[in-house]
Amino acid sequence: MSLYDRVTALHGDLPWGAVLDAGTGRSSMQWLLQRDTPRWTAVTGSQAMAEATRREAGDRIRPQDRVVVGNWSDPRLLDGERYDTVLADYLLGAIEGFAPYTQDRLFERLRPLVGGRLYVIGLEPYVPYAPSDPDGRLVVEIGRLRDACLLMAGDHPYREYPLDWTLRQLARSGFRVVDAERIAIRYGERFVHSQLDMCTHAAGRFHDRALAVAMLAHVADLRARALAHLRREGGLRHGHDYVVVAEPGT
Ligand SMILES: C[S@@+](CC[C@H](N)C(=O)[O-])C[C@H]1O[C@@H](n2cnc3c(N)ncnc32)[C@H](O)[C@@H]1O
Repeated sequence: MSLYDRVTALHGDLPWGAVLDAGTGRSSMQWLLQRDTPRWTAVTGSQAMAEATRREAGDRIRPQDRVVVGNWSDPRLLDGERYDTVLADYLLGAIEGFAPYTQDRLFERLRPLVGGRLYVIGLEPYVPYAPSDPDGRLVVEIGRLRDACLLMAGDHPYREYPLDWTLRQLARSGFRVVDAERIAIRYGERFVHSQLDMCTHAAGRFHDRALAVAMLAHVADLRARALAHLRREGGLRHGHDYVVVAEPGT
């Protein structure tokens, strides 16, 4: 069951009402388009993501639906608006790339926009840890290499936060947590390719070309090792996603 299926199941028979996808992308847009909503707004910090999301929606965007490019650190973004359901799908981890060190303000920023329910989808941090099992070691090696390449290329890697941090912040931001689940992850080939492809693209922007060449060889070696292991074991089992259901507190 996907994380979106979990959100749909947790919502049960409640009406979706007006929906805000507070950190949109092609996957959450696909999910959103299948919901019965009178209107929706999808926010992204990136023009390129807005275009990809609009392409995904195609002619299913109705006149009352909007894809908005903005930054949650801008107090004017959606000022005075209210939504029955708000989805923050992998938004928390991505904040580092758009408004670094403001993660502690995200939920208080979203609070006035939430009329009914907030769903937070997040990823337990794994990069700083040192698991001893082979699956965990490979996943961490991939995450560290990806982040190192992004930093070397001058980008901001994502910064994930654990479930207990998120629960504390929600309580401090005027939310009541209704439900929370951690979901074990089994990574497949798409994870290996997507994360290591970020490395190869980033290496194209290294100033030191000798380092870029060495990095590309290292990426190819890790890709081959990870894929061989994954094919043998049927996936890389490591870490957790989480889904939190929160409502405005009284
Ligand atoms: C990892 S993507 C979300 C995944 C997405 N829901 C999907 O379908 O795959 C993170 C999204 O949050 C947005 N975002 C991150 N920080 C933001 C900020 N400070 N203000 C507005 N949008 C932000 C990014 O631009 C992007 O659209």
